[in-house]
Amino acid sequence: MESKRVAAERAVEFVTDGMIVGLGTGSTAFWAIRKIGQRVKEGLKIQAIATSTASEKLARELGIPLLSFAEIDTIDVTIDGADEVDSNWNLTKGGGGALLREKIVASVSKELIIIVDESKIVEELGSFPLPVEIIPFGYEMTLKQLHKLGAEPLLRKTDDQIYKTDNGNFIADCHFGKIANPEELHQALNLIPGVVDNGLFVKLATHVIVGHKDGSVRELSPS
Ligand code: 5RP
Repeated sequence: MESKRVAAERAVEFVTDGMIVGLGTGSTAFWAIRKIGQRVKEGLKIQAIATSTASEKLARELGIPLLSFAEIDTIDVTIDGADEVDSNWNLTKGGGGALLREKIVASVSKELIIIVDESKIVEELGSFPLPVEIIPFGYEMTLKQLHKLGAEPLLRKTDDQIYKTDNGNFIADCHFGKIANPEELHQALNLIPGVVDNGLFVKLATHVIVGHKDGSVRELSPS
């Protein structure tokens, strides 16, 4: 928890008056939203756009002014977590189920600051099963197509009920083994009818901030 909090708080130092800020989702992004809320109370003037109903609710509770996509053309900075970060800063995201909204927000952000604890840094993606958002119609067939692509897809469930995203879709958690070429896999997945998007974020991160258990923080340099 400490490692997530320190990484998140370092990232919030990038936020300055007048910015439009993307708010990520998950237990690390939670700390960033809390810190932004604190700074807004102290007078920081920003407007934000959230990547999930949970983050939107938290932002409202903290008094962070929120915008809709109709009101903006671009986002200055987005702060979000990740499930894995590889040596080229490709990411696996969606452990918290918000990958689609997160990707929409990330793709229109000038800066995407990824905040993680040290356990998320890997050489190659693939230990964490890749979340793939699929539409409910024909989902059994979409799972078969994912299998044909080399995955062991597992339909995400909570308490025996099929998990539903904020968009009303399902998530297939896909074990592919090591992902040697994230860009190629990303494209192949998104060509399957029934797949809405997948949790591979390729060449989107502009900063990676890593928190450690001892409370130290390090910003990675691009390789
Ligand atoms: C949610 C995400 C999260 O950023 C990711 O799962 C990391 O979560 P946490 O910060 O709780 O470890 O992609 O869809």
